[in-house]
Amino acid sequence: MERDLEQIDGTLQLLTDEKSEELLNITYSRFFQLCPDAETLWEKDDPVSRGKMFNGVILTIVDNITRPQIGENNLVSDVKDHDGYGVSNEMYQQFFDSLVDALAEVLGDEFTAEMMSAWRGQLSQIKTLIHKHTER
Ligand code: HEM
Repeated sequence: MERDLEQIDGTLQLLTDEKSEELLNITYSRFFQLCPDAETLWEKDDPVSRGKMFNGVILTIVDNITRPQIGENNLVSDVKDHDGYGVSNEMYQQFFDSLVDALAEVLGDEFTAEMMSAWRGQLSQIKTLIHKHTER
């Protein structure tokens, strides 16, 4: 767990403002290419909401390591909202895959195998929690 936090924190430290912006754009563009249906769940093109959601995903990962009970409670509430938006179970995995692929694209060799493994491990745990709580 502590090792995952170190690797995830290390990854976040590499993200300058410019790279964060790039990461956000590439994540969503990969995601919408993989899952065109997801794009239509936003009523309009809404970069502010997507930016907030992106921060929400990062916070979910950090909470899952540092304060898992609070993290799970918040996730239950997000999942309930997202059930209402029409987000399916598969979309979470596709979003998480897009995020990890975008990290590799934006950071190149700086994104080490240890970092990737920490991101994948945490996202896989979060996916398990989502599956437990989603009604979709
Ligand atoms: C752990 C994963 C996720 C977390 C923590 C999360 C979190 C959030 C948060 C915090 C917002 C609100 C943004 C705001 O205040 O405007 C949001 C909005 C939204 N999310 Fe997610 N999200 C996740 C995954 C997904 C996935 C996979 C989809 C698939 C399409 C999705 C679709 C949406 C949509 C459509 C909205 C906007 C709803 C609206 O107000 O019209 N989210 N998300």
